[in-house]
Amino acid sequence: MRPPPPRHRGHRGPLAKNLFIKSFGCQMNAYDAARMADVMLPHGYVPVDRPEDADLIVLNTCHIREKAADKVYSELGRLRALKAKRRPPHGTPLIAVGGCVAQAEGDEIFSRAPYVDIVFGPQTYHRLPEMAARATRALEHEGARRAAGARVLDTEFPVEVKFDHLPEERQRPGVAAFLAVQEGCDKFCTFCVVPYTRGAEYSRPLADVLGEAGRLVEGGAREITLLGQNVNAYHGEGRGGRGVSFAELIRRLAEIDGLWRLRYTTSHPLEFDSDLIAAHRDVATLMPFVHLPLQSGSDRILAAMNRRHSFDAYRRIVDRLRAARSDIALSSDFIVGYPGEGDAEFEATLAAVGEIGYAQAFSFKYSPRPGTPAAALTCQVPELVKADRLSALRARLDGQQKAFNAALVDAKVPVLFEGPGRHPGQLVGRSPYLQAVHVAAPPHMVGRLAAVRIEVAGANSLAGRLIGTHPAAA
Ligand code: SAH
Ligand code: SF4
Ligand code: F3S
Repeated sequence: MRPPPPRHRGHRGPLAKNLFIKSFGCQMNAYDAARMADVMLPHGYVPVDRPEDADLIVLNTCHIREKAADKVYSELGRLRALKAKRRPPHGTPLIAVGGCVAQAEGDEIFSRAPYVDIVFGPQTYHRLPEMAARATRALEHEGARRAAGARVLDTEFPVEVKFDHLPEERQRPGVAAFLAVQEGCDKFCTFCVVPYTRGAEYSRPLADVLGEAGRLVEGGAREITLLGQNVNAYHGEGRGGRGVSFAELIRRLAEIDGLWRLRYTTSHPLEFDSDLIAAHRDVATLMPFVHLPLQSGSDRILAAMNRRHSFDAYRRIVDRLRAARSDIALSSDFIVGYPGEGDAEFEATLAAVGEIGYAQAFSFKYSPRPGTPAAALTCQVPELVKADRLSALRARLDGQQKAFNAALVDAKVPVLFEGPGRHPGQLVGRSPYLQAVHVAAPPHMVGRLAAVRIEVAGANSLAGRLIGTHPAAA
């Protein structure tokens, strides 16, 4: 097994330039950031760990809640100072804003932050080399780098399917890799910006996905998480133009030698069909941990959100999943304080959590997003009420997570080691249920699957002792 990829400090040959990318938001954004680095590498851009060393700084942004979008401008403020004080040998860096805020706000970003050079959305980053070249030319044309940015906007380029233009991945993957199979969303939940920032649903053809998965495994990945905003809505094109379902995609990926674990996120209850449930029964490499957002336990709120399913429909999926694979664990997303949510409706969410029982979950205060239908509703819930509900829900969810973790003490659990742990001599890996597990183990165990006896359960992670190489890894 090869060691994990080295950290890059960059280098400064005559043609080499340094690239720093900071990614916010979801795993799809993290995947995109890695692909941006792949796109830039043939153009001489080497990834670095600090913006201070970079010739091109990319903020890959998230628009999902107000707090996420605000982070971009505070980060840009810091970069402005950096840009103002930078001198040779590094020169003045280009600043690019990509991702979902860039898609939502477009050239408004230039008005709020005039020192930004490039703005591009999630579907155009395959054009980043040309955007960077255009920005460099625009600035050099003026003789010196000016205070105002170059104002290159991705709408200057034709609309294309980026996956048709991305190069093969060039960075070495980690032990646990991400692979985008589906992108975008046609569901239009009333609170959500994703259909506007990521655009319409698109599924990559089967051959593309299998090709990328094969290369990831060849490069040392042992676990792949399939990504999509609605990943189980996947309907890619197979041989001869035939449609391929998400369950079929999983079955095909499971045939890849050396791929020990498959996961996927985020799935939508509406798309959770019998085939996918059967895949959890039949495919041993499909991990028994499913992130299935519920948002609310109240049918009235679910309808108002345009989720298009009831709590009972959700409960039936969970029952069938548990019948298919008894050790399945669930995770979820919740929103409290959706416009018009009353106490009884919030109580229904608490009751739903009590009934389902989660291994882990994310919960958020509703955040009105510009352009979404729910933001225009007049029955907004006061901030203090939202805060109270969030802490009550979190207390319940934290309790469940602690209990789930504690139940594993003394159990023998297969752990896939991903890298160095908290302390010297330790490695960290993941259990099938995605818990981080800290274990005293030698560095050569990175990339291996081993049996671990769990000794300590914390709120967010486990610790244990190595008891042998897991048979599945042999
Ligand atoms: N596609 C996924 C969700 C992607 S966004 C799904 O359909 O479930 C991730 C999570 O952010 C959502 O599940 C939701 O819980 C939360 N979220 C989205 N918009 C939000 C908003 N306006 N305010 C608060 N939370 C929000
Ligand atoms: Fe947003 Fe709903 Fe689409 Fe999920 S399904 S990305 S919450 S619109
Ligand atoms: Fe954020 Fe865009 Fe992902 S809004 S959550 S980065 S799809």
